Amino acid sequence: MNLFLLKKLKTKDLTLGLSFLFFMLISFSSTAQDGKALFKQNCAACHKPLKDGTGPALQGAKAKWEAAGDDIYAWVNNPQAQYDAGVESALAIQYQPGGMAGIGVSKEEIDAILKYVDEYTAPLPPVTAINTTANPGTEQNNSWLMWLIIGGILAMLIVALWGVRKQLYYAVKEKEEGKEVEEEESFGSEVKSWMGRNLKLVSVLGFVITGTLVYYGAEELYKVGLVPEGYNPEQPIAFSHKIHAGANEIDCQYCHNSVSKSKSAGIPTVNVCMNCHKAIGEATSGEKGTAEIAKIHKAAGWDPDKRQYTGKTEPIRWVKVHNMPDHVYFNHSQHVTVGEIECENCHGDVKTYTTGKISGTETINNLELEGKKLVKLSRPLLTMGWCIECHATADVSTKGNKYYDEIHDRLKKDKELYKSVMEDGKVKVKEFGGWECSKCHY
Ligand code: HEC
Ligand code: HEC
Ligand code: HEC
Ligand code: HEC
Ligand code: HEC
Ligand code: HEC
Repeated sequence: MNLFLLKKLKTKDLTLGLSFLFFMLISFSSTAQDGKALFKQNCAACHKPLKDGTGPALQGAKAKWEAAGDDIYAWVNNPQAQYDAGVESALAIQYQPGGMAGIGVSKEEIDAILKYVDEYTAPLPPVTAINTTANPGTEQNNSWLMWLIIGGILAMLIVALWGVRKQLYYAVKEKEEGKEVEEEESFGSEVKSWMGRNLKLVSVLGFVITGTLVYYGAEELYKVGLVPEGYNPEQPIAFSHKIHAGANEIDCQYCHNSVSKSKSAGIPTVNVCMNCHKAIGEATSGEKGTAEIAKIHKAAGWDPDKRQYTGKTEPIRWVKVHNMPDHVYFNHSQHVTVGEIECENCHGDVKTYTTGKISGTETINNLELEGKKLVKLSRPLLTMGWCIECHATADVSTKGNKYYDEIHDRLKKDKELYKSVMEDGKVKVKEFGGWECSKCHY
C-alpha cells in the first residue's frame, strides 16, 4: 500500500474517532447538565438529592422502585393514580400523602433528573484546609539563583578568554623569536603578573563587582519583612467581604468589633457568624457557597437538620494576612478613632474583596470613595517608610477632638513651639512626636 494513502487513512480514522469522542462527551455532559437544570426547574422546590424537604430525599429512589418492579415514571407524572392502583412503592412512602401533584415530564427527562440525583455528592471539604503554597519568600530565592547562574557563566567566559589570550601570546612570541617557547610560568604567578600589568582594569573590575554585591545584598536585606502587595492567602472558609460588607452592607465593626476601641481590629469568632448563619444555611450563589456555610456549622457544632448544637466544636484557623513584626507597635483605635483615618486608607476597598488581602499604594491612591478623604502616599504598605510618610502628610483634625486639648494647652505655653507647629495652620502627626522611634518601637 502507498505510504501516503496509509497516512491519509490514519488521519481520517483519527478525525472520525475524535469527533465520535467529542460527540460522546457533548451528549454526556448535556444530559448531566439537563438533569441538573431539569431538577432545579421541576423538582428542587420540594426535593433535595440527599436531604428530606417537603418531599423525601431522592437519591436511590429509582433503584428502590425498580427493585420493587414498580413504574417510577408513571409515579412522577401521576402519583395519585399510583396510590389509587395500590402500587406497593407508592403506599410504602407514607410521606405527606397527596403532597406531590403530577408533573408533566418525559421519560428521558425523568431519567436525566434521576441520574443527576443519583450521582450527586455533597461537597464537604475539611474545615482546616490551610494553604502553604503562598510563600512570599520564593521569589527572593529565585533571584539569588539567577545571580549564581550569571556569575557562573561570567567566570566560564573569563577562563575561556584567558586561554585564548595565552595561546595568542605564545603564538606571537614564537613568531618573534623563531623558536618554541616553554610554558614556564605557573597559573598563579601569571595571574599576579597580569594583574600587575593591568592595575587600572583590575581596580575598576574589583570596584564594580564589590559594588554590585553590596547593592544587591542590601536590596535583599531591605526586602526582609516587606510584605508583597496583593498577598491573599487561602482561608479555611471562602469568606467574602463583597457579599457581607458589600452587597449586604454589614458594618466593618459588626465583625471587627474592637477596631475603634483597642489596639487590634479583631477577627470575628464563629459565634458572630452564627448570629446570621443559624438562619442562613444556604447560599443563593449555589452549592459551593452552601458547602462553605456548612463549614461554619461544623466549626460551631451546629446540626442544621435537627436545629440544635451538638457540642462538638472545631476552631476556624484563619490565616493572618497583615502582620507587623514584634518590635513594632501599631494601634487601630489611635488611627481609626483619634486620627479619623478610613479603613480604606490602609486596607484598600475591602467591600470589593473576597478574603482579606494586602492592598497597594497605587491602588489606594486611585480609589474614589464617596464622602471619604484618603491621604495619598507613595511608600509600600506596612513598611516603616509608609508609616513615617503618612505621619508627615496627614492633617490631624484637632477641632472638637478632646485628645488634643492637652497637647494644645501645652503648646500654648511655649510660644516658639506653638508658632513653628501652627505656622501653616495645620498639625501633622510628626509635629507632636509621630516620628519618635519609641512611639512605634518597643
Ligand atoms: C410540590 C412539591 C413536589 C414537587 C415539585 C415534586 N415532588 Fe416528588 N414528592 C413530593 C412529596 C410530598 C412526595 C412524598 C409522597 C407524597 O406525599 O405524595 C414526593 C415523592 C416523590 C418520589 C417518591 C420517593 C420515594 O422515596 O419513593 C419520587 C421518585 C419523586 N417525588 C420524584 C419527583 C421528581 C422527579 C420531581 C420533579 C420532576 C418531583 N418529585 C417534584 C413533593 C414534590
Ligand atoms: C493607619 C492604617 C490603618 C487603618 C486606618 C486601619 N488599619 Fe487595620 N491594620 C493596619 C495594620 C498596620 C495592621 C497590622 C497590625 C498588626 O499586625 O499588628 C492591620 C490589621 C488589621 C486586621 C487584622 C487583625 C488585627 O487586628 O491585626 C483587621 C481585621 C483590620 N486591620 C481591620 C481594619 C478595619 C475594619 C479598619 C477600619 C475601621 C482598619 N483596619 C483601619 C493598618 C490600618
Ligand atoms: C449579619 C449577618 C451575617 C453575618 C454576621 C455573617 N454572614 Fe455570612 N452571609 C450573610 C448573608 C446575608 C449571606 C448571603 C446568603 C445568600 O447567598 O443569599 C452570607 C453568605 C455567606 C457565605 C456564602 C457565600 C457564597 O459564596 O455564596 C459564606 C461562606 C459566609 N456567609 C460565611 C460567613 C462567615 C465565615 C461569617 C463569620 C465570620 C459570616 N458569614 C457572618 C450574612 C451574614
Ligand atoms: C461578616 C463579617 C465581616 C465583615 C462585615 C467585615 N469583615 Fe473583614 N474579615 C472577616 C473575616 C472572617 C476575616 C478573616 C478572613 C480573611 O482574611 O478574609 C476578615 C479579614 C479582614 C482583613 C484582613 C485581616 C488580616 O488577617 O490581616 C481586613 C483588613 C478586613 N477584614 C477589613 C475589613 C473592612 C475594612 C471591613 C468593612 C468594609 C470588613 N473587614 C468587614 C469578617 C468580616
Ligand atoms: C494613612 C496615614 C497613617 C499611616 C499609614 C500610619 N499612621 Fe500612625 N498616625 C496617623 C495619624 C493621623 C495619627 C494621629 C492620631 C493621634 O493623634 O494619635 C497617627 C498616630 C500614630 C501614633 C501615635 C503618635 C503620638 O505621638 O501619639 C503611633 C504610635 C502611630 N501612629 C504608629 C503608626 C505605625 C506603626 C504605622 C505603620 C505601621 C502608622 N502609624 C501608619 C496616620 C497614619
Ligand atoms: C511611625 C512609626 C515608626 C517610627 C516613628 C519609627 N519606626 Fe522603625 N519601623 C516601623 C515599622 C512599621 C517597621 C517594620 C517595617 C517592616 O516590617 O518592613 C520598622 C522597622 C524598623 C527597623 C527594622 C528594619 C527592618 O527592615 O525590619 C529598624 C532598625 C527601625 N525600624 C528603626 C527605627 C528608628 C531608629 C527609628 C527612629 C529614628 C524608627 N525606627 C522610627 C515603624 C516606625
